[in-house]
Amino acid sequence: MGRHAWQVNNPDGKFRVIVTKALPGRRWLDVLTASDCRVEVCQSKSVLDTETIRLAIGRRCDGAIGQLTEPWGETLFEALKAAGGTAYSNYAVGYNNVDMDAANRAGMPVGNTPGVLTETTAEMAVALTFAAARRVGEAERYLRAGRYTGWLPDLFLGTLLQGKTLGIIGAGRIGAAYARMMVQGHGMQLVYHDLATNSDLESLVADLSLFRVSHRQSPVACRRAESLEALLEAADCVSIHTVLNEATHHLIDARRLAVMKPDAILINTSRGPVIDETALVDHCRRHPDFRAGLDVFENEPALAPGLTELDNVLLVPHIASATRWTREGMAVLAACNVAGILAGYPLWRQPDILPFLAEDPPCAIPSIVNADALGKLNRRS
Ligand code: DGY
Repeated sequence: MGRHAWQVNNPDGKFRVIVTKALPGRRWLDVLTASDCRVEVCQSKSVLDTETIRLAIGRRCDGAIGQLTEPWGETLFEALKAAGGTAYSNYAVGYNNVDMDAANRAGMPVGNTPGVLTETTAEMAVALTFAAARRVGEAERYLRAGRYTGWLPDLFLGTLLQGKTLGIIGAGRIGAAYARMMVQGHGMQLVYHDLATNSDLESLVADLSLFRVSHRQSPVACRRAESLEALLEAADCVSIHTVLNEATHHLIDARRLAVMKPDAILINTSRGPVIDETALVDHCRRHPDFRAGLDVFENEPALAPGLTELDNVLLVPHIASATRWTREGMAVLAACNVAGILAGYPLWRQPDILPFLAEDPPCAIPSIVNADALGKLNRRS
């Protein structure tokens, strides 16, 4: 299968499944082999191109687990279908790398891995927020460069977040978890932008406020912004937790950056193209007190020219979900998606997906994003 090495597990398995990257842990492999799958795992760390994956699918392939770095579209879904395949899972909760129309045309179920990234990704957003507010990256570079000659009253003055206004764009699972951490832990006032009202989040903040006041702390409040501009104007810190689609591509552009406070903090752990990265570089250059903390980039792994030269930008390489528990959990969910489809199991329609990580997982398919579009997978519900 081309220039990359593939490790074959359970060679006599009835179903052939390809996995385009080695995944953390062992449990996911046990799930597939226990479901009578021969599992071929690409050992390369480079991003596989479409042709390499098409060749790996070959003439007979029952299922595949792919990565968010790979464009799963017409070519791959048609190749998988022609090879007898009936199951695909992304090793990610996001699926902007998948052409859903092409998957639907090929009748291919597309699995994803929700429910195990929530707290992990939110914690990274918190880490970036404080690192940006307190200039941790800059200060560490200064120290390592041997420039620290002694304590000074004005060395790396940063921003206190306690009691300030937090804006979240997207109040879904991860956005709401991040908001909870910041409001509960740091008494921040919350404003959110979302297509829908998040009543759970609003009532949690209301209860929290009562609790704080009863302990002689300042109240906290949560409101849904009337517009994105209103949120950007009001917030001292803005964190992005939206999906990437046509409507959110370059949602934060030069015009919207100009609306933000000149010393605001902008955090992105969602998808890079939500921010116009060139506009951000320009904005950060012209506003040295503005800070950004980025986990994701517009053209990963490439970075916009000038980004790495900016001291007021903190950069990490798309690792927000990178804890062992989460990445192993994602692998188990992706494996259960594929194994569940091959076994003809029904779709798991409950919000709590953690039973799949337990010793004896349910006989169900954890998460298929186009289940309703395909109108199947409900055979034994
Ligand atoms: C996802 O699952 O979509 C994340 O971006 C992976 O970190």
